[in-house]
Amino acid sequence: MVLLWHRPESTIARVDAKGLIAAGGEATRLGELTRVANKHLLPVGRWPMIYYPLQLLQLAGVREVLIVTGQGHAGQLIDLLGDGRMAARGGDEPLFDLDLTYKVQTEPGGIAQVVGMAEAYAGGGKLVVCLGDNLFEFAEVSAIRSWADAGEGAQIFVKEVPDPERFGVVVYGEDGRVTDLVEKAGVVDTRYETPPTADAVVGLYCYDATVYEIIRGLEPSSRGELEITDVNRRYAEEGRLEVARVQGWWHDAGAHEALAELGARVEETGANKLA
Ligand code: DAU
Repeated sequence: MVLLWHRPESTIARVDAKGLIAAGGEATRLGELTRVANKHLLPVGRWPMIYYPLQLLQLAGVREVLIVTGQGHAGQLIDLLGDGRMAARGGDEPLFDLDLTYKVQTEPGGIAQVVGMAEAYAGGGKLVVCLGDNLFEFAEVSAIRSWADAGEGAQIFVKEVPDPERFGVVVYGEDGRVTDLVEKAGVVDTRYETPPTADAVVGLYCYDATVYEIIRGLEPSSRGELEITDVNRRYAEEGRLEVARVQGWWHDAGAHEALAELGARVEETGANKLA
């Protein structure tokens, strides 16, 4: 049973935020699959991967979305998505009613670099950021909407995982507030040999306009990237970071096993469901 439903944009109340999808990077872990093709165009279930973050943003009420991708890949994305107003192939049922803009990241300098590229586009407003290879069972609409209505700071989402060494993780103090964030413990962040918790930070982030000043102050990490985890740590240090827990499953599709498993998972349960 396929549960990849959608509904016309006109029935969804808008939120006061723009969207950003990070769809660059080299995707070397996918080997031959991404020698030419952009990872975010690979199939997951019946859709190209990037349809899922686009749908998530649309369901949350975000209409204007910036897609950042690598040089050599923007053409493929534009060929597929156009200006963001799309009907399903062979039918007139609306898939997306978005307003898309594209930008090229010439070198994969990190997710924080991608966010920094949205400064002029966001025009001083709020930004909801999706990693183009992250898929969610539930679209997290109410958490995104409450953050967009509430005001300032940042909101990240976490999910307890069996393999936290693959991700950024969150460290909590006794009062439950976040005291630290650690990117790939022992590899990128060598302050820890192993991940201090199993709460992975997923690829969905909400930022106010102070994020760009934070990004300007970043230094590249040991893997030569501007790390989104360093951005989130700054918000935490300033006491301006909220953490929400994702409902249902969450996966990134960055490696072969995950990609294969995700296709079946999406067919079985659906994705981007409303709670
Ligand atoms: O999947 C969640 C994880 O994503 C987080 O837990 C980590 O904290 C975060 O750093 C990130 O980890 P990865 O190292 O696995 O990210 P990856 O390099 O796979 O890139 C994630 C997405 O962002 C992918 O769709 C490509 C895009 N990207 C990545 C880089 C480095 C860009 O658009 N530009 C870039 O420069």
